[in-house]
Amino acid sequence: MKRAIYNGPRDFAFEDVEEPKAGPNDAVIEIKYAGVCGSDVTAWTYDGSAVGIHAGNEFGHEFAGVITEVGSKVKDVKVGDRVWVNPETCKLAGKVACCECGGFSEKVLIENAKVNYNVYKLPDSVDFKEAALIEPFCVGIHGKNAVHTKKSDKVLIFGAGPIGLCCLNALIGQGVKKVAVADVRDDRLKDAEAMGAIILNSADPKFMENVEEVFGTTMTPFGPAVDIDVFIDCAGVKPVMDTILKLAKYEARISVVAVYKETYEMPLMLVMAKRYTITGSCAYDHKDALEAIGLLEKKNTNIDKLITHMFAYDELEQALDTASNPESGALKVMIDYSI
Ligand SMILES: NC(=O)c1ccc[n+]([C@@H]2O[C@H](COP(=O)([O-])OP(=O)(O)OC[C@H]3O[C@@H](n4cnc5c(N)ncnc54)[C@H](O)[C@@H]3O)[C@@H](O)[C@H]2O)c1
Repeated sequence: MKRAIYNGPRDFAFEDVEEPKAGPNDAVIEIKYAGVCGSDVTAWTYDGSAVGIHAGNEFGHEFAGVITEVGSKVKDVKVGDRVWVNPETCKLAGKVACCECGGFSEKVLIENAKVNYNVYKLPDSVDFKEAALIEPFCVGIHGKNAVHTKKSDKVLIFGAGPIGLCCLNALIGQGVKKVAVADVRDDRLKDAEAMGAIILNSADPKFMENVEEVFGTTMTPFGPAVDIDVFIDCAGVKPVMDTILKLAKYEARISVVAVYKETYEMPLMLVMAKRYTITGSCAYDHKDALEAIGLLEKKNTNIDKLITHMFAYDELEQALDTASNPESGALKVMIDYSI
């Protein structure tokens, strides 16, 4: 079999290796589809160590496949089971980083395979391609669960990249009716609109007026304010947090999903006086994974629209280049191991 080894920016190698062998508690998974994540893009274009992808290690962590071997003591999965692998908890967690768990290899070994821990069985109606979206979908689901969204909440997401759109679909799946997405890129806003969002270009000089028109105003102890209950930051740039703090009404909830590369000076006097709840949302938990699989099974989201490009396994380099090129219009670039 082949496995993909990260060597550094714009450099990886396919290695021919022996297939992994399951120990008594392990399972071997043949990968069917894998997605390229933003951290793979950072590794490909800049520096893998910044995102826990180190030279000499396997990479890829958004994938689904079929179990081809189980150890003698494994009881809750069997050969032929279709599964999503949780990269946070899979075989190598603790030995190497989550992003190095072998999602761009043909097969992976899952040590101590356990259902609903490191492997999750897929319902019949969820195909492998959708299942390879579960990982980023979980990030979006955690982003909204971190601020305990309710169906009646009015939500504004900043950033229409893959993660912002996963938040959008998580909210659509939950049944939240009023969700807008703001970005500075019209191509991405079109993608958000196609998935069901109200869209707002935050580079538009009339942005604040447009937000008010979409959400209306409500009276607060500080006077009238735009009626948004929840903000989800999937952009991670200073102007976005500045805008959120300017817009946020009394007792607004703010979920920070984006990675801020620079320190942000938070006006805590304002946070205190306006009783804001600001919550960091990093990765996801078991219940987010179950929610993602449940939403895929119900088919009540547009998460499949996230897939913009599909490549064969031997085209991994083109897949990484495409995902790294802002001109490509890529949201989620995927590898189909069958072509
Ligand atoms: N918390 C986690 O567990 C987790 C997991 C994965 C990714 N992330 C982070 O989430 C963020 C989003 O990930 P992504 O893959 O979608 O990234 P991305 O870069 O594809 O998307 C970010 C979007 O923000 C937009 N943006 C930039 N400036 C803006 C502004 N002023 N107003 C509105 N939008 C603006 C960009 O145009 C872009 O479309 C990144 O910071 C990423 O590192 C966090």
